[in-house]
Amino acid sequence: MSDQPRPLTTLDVVAMKRAGRKIVSLTAYDALMARMLDASGVDLILVGDSVNQVVAGRPTTLSATLDQMIYHARAVQGAVHRALVVVDLPFLSYQVTPEEAIRNAGRVLQETDAAAVKLEGGVTMGPTIRALVDRGIPVMGHVGLTPQSVHALGGYRVQGRDEGAAARLMADARAVEEAGAFSVVLELVPSPLAARVTKELAIPTVGIGAGAGCDGQVLVLPDMLGMNPAFTPKFLKRYADLDGTIRSAVSAYADDVRAGRYPGAEHGFE
Ligand code: KIV
Repeated sequence: MSDQPRPLTTLDVVAMKRAGRKIVSLTAYDALMARMLDASGVDLILVGDSVNQVVAGRPTTLSATLDQMIYHARAVQGAVHRALVVVDLPFLSYQVTPEEAIRNAGRVLQETDAAAVKLEGGVTMGPTIRALVDRGIPVMGHVGLTPQSVHALGGYRVQGRDEGAAARLMADARAVEEAGAFSVVLELVPSPLAARVTKELAIPTVGIGAGAGCDGQVLVLPDMLGMNPAFTPKFLKRYADLDGTIRSAVSAYADDVRAGRYPGAEHGFE
């Protein structure tokens, strides 16, 4: 019998909310990191379209492509034994028609073996989420700050601050649940509002910049590992200083090469 853990399903993630167990989520874009996250017990690995910013160096997520997401998702899924892998549908791969969304989300599941997709939007995306779920494609929603709409929102700002905006955000979250999504990301939402949404919904909320009242938390991996020191949003906690660690390792290597200390005799072949 295999001693590999059983892969988590979308139903397990929903059950975690009912059991009062927090959902631990991080992004990953490659096999190396995905293997480490999985071995560390991360429940849900998100192949986020943030890859387009943190790995590809583009200014927003909008230029991420479906082929790019499939490439990264295949690498991640192949390295994971337990975590549920969710793949972001990129901008314009699901907004035009539900039919296109089905074809594109179907490609993600078929070509990567991942178990679910994530898409941004609330009330407007309800029919699309329903179309996907009815065809057997599990969907994670994403409301609040939706980065694919950054130009319409006027920047990466906290959403739902006034009464009207809070009511719209609540309606968006409800629409995502009613359309059949198994969970929803709440991004940059005031903590009291995120806690109210979490109480209202039966599906789990996974927050980023949305306070401790959510059912789970997600962060962008290179940000929480301190690989991007220029990015300092209030919600981010850094758990390592990999920027410093990598710079000093590379400087030590460069010094050794320049001084003729590397490679040593023990690194050579007879
Ligand atoms: O693309 C991404 O990494 C995300 C998270 C920030 C939730 O959507």
